[in-house]
Amino acid sequence: MRITSLADYQKTYELSVREPEKFWAGIANQFDWIKPFTKVLDWNFDDYSVKWFEDGQMNITANALDRHLKTIPDQAAIIYEPNEPGDEAITLTYRELHARVCKFSNVLKNQGVVKGDRVCIYMPMIPELAIAVLACARIGAIHSVVFGGFSAQSIADRINDSECKVVVTTDGAVRGNKTIPMKETVDDALVSCPSVEKVIVKTRTKTPVSMIGGRDLWWEQEENEATTDCPAEAMNAEDPLFILYTSGSTGKPKGVVHTCGGYMVYTAYTFANVFQYNPGEVFFCTADIGWITGHSYLVYGPLLNGAKSILFEGIPTYPDAGRFWDIIKRHSVNIFYTAPTAIRSLMGFGDEHIEGKDLSSLRVLGSVGEPLNEEAWHWYNDKVGHGNCPIVDTWWQTETGGLMISPIAGITPLKPAFATLPLPGVQPILVDENGKEITGNGVNGNLCIKYPWPSIIRTTYGDHERCKSTYFSTYPGLYFTGDGCMRDEDGYYRITGRVDDVMNISGHRIGTAEVENAINMHTGVIESAVVGYPHDIKGQGIYAYVICEHPTINDDLTRKDILATVTRVIGPIAKPDKIQFVTGLPKTRSGKIMRRILRKVAEGDTTNLGDTSTLLDPGVVDSIISGAL
Ligand code: PRX
Repeated sequence: MRITSLADYQKTYELSVREPEKFWAGIANQFDWIKPFTKVLDWNFDDYSVKWFEDGQMNITANALDRHLKTIPDQAAIIYEPNEPGDEAITLTYRELHARVCKFSNVLKNQGVVKGDRVCIYMPMIPELAIAVLACARIGAIHSVVFGGFSAQSIADRINDSECKVVVTTDGAVRGNKTIPMKETVDDALVSCPSVEKVIVKTRTKTPVSMIGGRDLWWEQEENEATTDCPAEAMNAEDPLFILYTSGSTGKPKGVVHTCGGYMVYTAYTFANVFQYNPGEVFFCTADIGWITGHSYLVYGPLLNGAKSILFEGIPTYPDAGRFWDIIKRHSVNIFYTAPTAIRSLMGFGDEHIEGKDLSSLRVLGSVGEPLNEEAWHWYNDKVGHGNCPIVDTWWQTETGGLMISPIAGITPLKPAFATLPLPGVQPILVDENGKEITGNGVNGNLCIKYPWPSIIRTTYGDHERCKSTYFSTYPGLYFTGDGCMRDEDGYYRITGRVDDVMNISGHRIGTAEVENAINMHTGVIESAVVGYPHDIKGQGIYAYVICEHPTINDDLTRKDILATVTRVIGPIAKPDKIQFVTGLPKTRSGKIMRRILRKVAEGDTTNLGDTSTLLDPGVVDSIISGAL
């Protein structure tokens, strides 16, 4: 499965374009299939539908767990590093993880969960989160993991959208020196979730929680009553594996659906190749399992490859900004995969936290989620990699399921701030505003993909039209990523950022409309407009322009109140960094907000605002500029 040289990459890439079905069938056949597939691909980007390995049957956990029991049963699968650095790390071997997953699969079954049911998982980064995910996959239930930082309202929206039957959570969570309620937040959500029949609660913090008779169950008690015997359900390759909600430019977050077969093949293939994983190596992905990176490269990709995967509960700055480096030393980490925002933040704490730390086990470094600027790239390369570790700047999305444009460690010649070249099977294309292909090198355009890969989004849960219109209608016949991109003279790709109304805050996707809706719920707010602006650490910060019914008496107090509302409606990650109170917004005669102007003001660049003649009231702009923060 592994590419071994640049020439091999080029040959493999060409094969993947010339004979994609042969290429992917060759890789897919390296997995355990309960019923082998005979059809490789059926696709249509015009009336969107994609099916990979359609008539095959398999189970992803049989490949991620059972398969390794024959060869590496006693090797670590998951290494749990708790929040407190003094607490003992816990290793689950493949045999142990298999047993725990089977047991929890039976717990779910005992509660009436069957194939196709949706299960919401709202948990901190503890081994049971991975166990719950894999248990769902084992019995064919569709997991919907909701990031532990989301609010009750966000949980409720996600549960209701996919009508989850069961919620799995914990009493509380610990992150740094904070204890965070989890069950209580779930309880608040469930006031408006009629589909939920059972809540399974794992103990983590021993925080007192209310347990509702007939609905709420303790994980430990249920586990005691379950056996470890649970055969993996035979899944059709195209059966849904999970739903993961992500923000778009309009409306509520949509449930991105990934299916069993294609997702398995693609995450395993990309993990093995991009990181050039060698058997026995320790892989540390710092993402939370609540995001796609955690799904694909903390749980599924590593386990499918029989890797040792670190699951870290805490934060990079607790007890100090050297925590990641201590973990790397403690567990002899070979491959480290994190986000630019973490790198920039740790850079800002000063080199004294990294100097003298033993990072000699490291072989490969990775980055994901947002552009890795050159300054951060060099710091990562010099201070963390000591110039010896290739940096793979991996571009991909929740919708792509796995890495798409990325160097292959040690093989692709690197360029700072470039995601470099497409992986085999990935056919990028740049188009102009009208969808016309921009050919040649040294060009900029909107990034689309013209051919399916195995883990492409299949649908948005419960609303296929939304999937079609979001991804396949802007440029007919192409998958549109929403990203702007440059292809330089060498044909190397550099992602320049979103071209739609999606912000990328510390590597987290948040829609401007979502934040505006939350702000507008605040009493006295008439209207708001939100834009992203460059932020030294977060990549982008959130800048909100807010019109209130009455002039505010105390701006700072009102700002804090608005932040509290946004936290309650979405969660702390969506809190604006700046709130400017305004009396009007720059609108065109047709009522459309000219965000271009708001972005410029937020960036602090008001020299060239472009044509403002179509504005209903051009005077608004001056007043916004004069009050800019
Ligand atoms: O804008 C791109 C940015 O993150 C978006 C996808 O966000 P999400 O679905 O949350 O997935 C993040 C983790 C895969 C993309 O549309 N992005 C992701 N990786 C990179 C990136 N921007 C620049 N460089 C990257 N390596």
